[in-house]
Amino acid sequence: MSVPAQSADPASGTVPRPVKLAPSILSCDFSRLGEELQAIAGADYAHVDVMDGAFVPNISFGLPILAAARRVSSLFMDVHLMIERPERYLRDFAEAGADGITVHVESTQHLHRAVQSIRELGKRAGVTLNPGTSLEAVRPVLADVDLVLVMSVNPGFGGQKFLPASLERVRTLRRWLDELGSDAEIEVDGGVNAANARALAEAGATVLVAGSAVYGPDGGAAGLERLRAALV
Ligand code: DX5
Ligand code: ZN
Repeated sequence: MSVPAQSADPASGTVPRPVKLAPSILSCDFSRLGEELQAIAGADYAHVDVMDGAFVPNISFGLPILAAARRVSSLFMDVHLMIERPERYLRDFAEAGADGITVHVESTQHLHRAVQSIRELGKRAGVTLNPGTSLEAVRPVLADVDLVLVMSVNPGFGGQKFLPASLERVRTLRRWLDELGSDAEIEVDGGVNAANARALAEAGATVLVAGSAVYGPDGGAAGLERLRAALV
């Protein structure tokens, strides 16, 4: 459930838009996937990090885990593809249970075609970019996407430190989307926690991904509540 909007004025120090929470199952205990998904049933999305060991220096999981998660959870499955040439697998991920699919600008020669394909599959289309990639790389497709994901760490691993320059990237994207009249979501992923969640929301983020801040030592629900509390 989203945290309610408080103000329409982003300069006022309040959270200007409802913010959705998207726990990343990358940090969960995979031997208890069903219970770990149950623990976040009150969240808005389950964030699903797919890594191929080529686009990023780590391998996570793929289609069978998404399909298993889909079978035991009714949460929106927010699939983040960190794989080379994701266009090869978009249909497979859609059929395995993705509700939204996000691709990296650095991973495909044909970003616009990938976005079109995700839309044609009836899924929410997202684009994302690494911290070292200019925001200009997503600008040509902004009018055609439902979500832009700002990576606030270098992708590949959970538990990394938030990169503060990400805040300005969120502000810039919010301005560009406003100029276009787009209501696309701005999602932030990497090092998000109760200490920076509010600043991200004030900058214009509408979806916050959190792995280690949710699936910490004291279990799923506690971390989720701490994030929610930081936003009200
Ligand atoms: C990193 C992943 C993230 C990761 C976030 O490549 O895309 O979704 O799970 O984990 P934390 O919140 O621990 O940084
Ligand atoms: Zn992710």
